[in-house]
Amino acid sequence: MPLSSSSTSSTKSIRRAASELERSDSVTSQRFLGRRQSLIEDARKEREAAAAAAEAAEASEQIVFEEDDGKALLNIFFCLRSSKTQALSRTLKVFETFEAKIHHLETRPHRKLKDSLEYFVRCEVHLSDVSTLISSIKKNAEDVKTTKEVKFHWFPKKIADLDKCHHLVTKFDPDLDQDHPGYTDPVYRQRRKMIGDIAFRYRHGESIPRVEYTEEEIGTWREVYSTLRDLYTTHACSEYLDAFRLLERHCGYSPDNIPQLEDVSNFLKERTGFILRPVAGLLSARDFLASLAFRVFQCTQYIRHASSPMHSPEPDCVHELLGHVPMLADRTFAQFSQNLGLASLGASDEDIEKLSTLYWFTVEYGLCKQNGEVRAYGAGLLSSYGELVHSLSDEPETREFHPESAALQPYQDQNYQPVYFVSESFSDAKEKFRAYVAGIKRPFSVRYDPFTSSIEVLDNPLKIQGCLEGLKDELKVLTDALSVLS
Ligand SMILES: [Fe+2]
Repeated sequence: MPLSSSSTSSTKSIRRAASELERSDSVTSQRFLGRRQSLIEDARKEREAAAAAAEAAEASEQIVFEEDDGKALLNIFFCLRSSKTQALSRTLKVFETFEAKIHHLETRPHRKLKDSLEYFVRCEVHLSDVSTLISSIKKNAEDVKTTKEVKFHWFPKKIADLDKCHHLVTKFDPDLDQDHPGYTDPVYRQRRKMIGDIAFRYRHGESIPRVEYTEEEIGTWREVYSTLRDLYTTHACSEYLDAFRLLERHCGYSPDNIPQLEDVSNFLKERTGFILRPVAGLLSARDFLASLAFRVFQCTQYIRHASSPMHSPEPDCVHELLGHVPMLADRTFAQFSQNLGLASLGASDEDIEKLSTLYWFTVEYGLCKQNGEVRAYGAGLLSSYGELVHSLSDEPETREFHPESAALQPYQDQNYQPVYFVSESFSDAKEKFRAYVAGIKRPFSVRYDPFTSSIEVLDNPLKIQGCLEGLKDELKVLTDALSVLS
């Protein structure tokens, strides 16, 4: 995955100033928050890479997409098994032999082949060498292709397939990014790695290992919890408040305790069927959305650095537990979240980017109307004191939620949002989203089977007929219940 950081020295100093300002809680001026990670940026990169390669494929011979002075620019994808220790050096030797000038190189774990890496190389080579170069790579590597050969994207069909959906976006990491608050703290980095390893080792069906949080970590949690809790009464929607009370009563939510993911997951399962799964950082948009289709929420377990308690540029357990979890306990919101996930399965890169944007403006930064007031339900708001106050002040613009426009709205990841979308209700948002999804082009429809925790691909009439039989049984139960009542 790309290891990119766009920080500059000026943004570093602004960011330091911002963490001080964050504590002042003034909402009269816009404050820089530091870059926040989002699914949208990742989805956009995937789409742009795929679009470039597809364009290339159409331009000539599926691979060459630019020619200049006898030179060709290539996008090549291939897979190398880690068991073949010489494969990488041999493949790189091929590029050297043909004097290919490498412009870009990326790797990530292969989605299907265990213990293998997928490589993306963009390189410049003489036009006459193209076909020989490709055939030479094929001798060392597997799955050599351009994206044009991919008809639609793989997606998990069974809940256990989520074990393969852990592709991290390492854009902001304490081990790699000098701007991360934990970069100069080896103890924090070690701790983060230890908790991250729990997620890497985790397999579906296992209990989520408990983490014994340190006094310093609990102190960070306490500071955010105590600050936000008072604000919820006047700023959070009623569904959030109801769930929060239950979480305090049953799941160890308190200023002096960081709740355990296993306990919270069991609570959610009883309420809405959602479960948590530990994750080591921000996932790729496609993987994250796919998990929602199974009512699985991929949840970080580490906590932000103690030097910056009121702001984290990446998801951490404060954001997940205070922002996301209470809303996942609401049945209508849970269904809305699952529908977002179902719409993403096998969707094009363009649609994944739009769905990620919709996720941003609803699940992360959504507002809703309640009893003549506007309240917050987005996790990015409910886990950030400053933005929660800002979102319900007179400063930002608010618009009625329409998926078509929200999916295209430019988002802000370095400051508070200038625009928020307000839903009439969760049911209304769900219905509007259902209509929007109908416009997404896929050669099939999907349905979640709760009995087998699997996705049924409805790509022929027999399967659809089978589903209708099940619906008839359910309708019969409901009509019988109505007749008993009458
Ligand atoms: Fe989030």
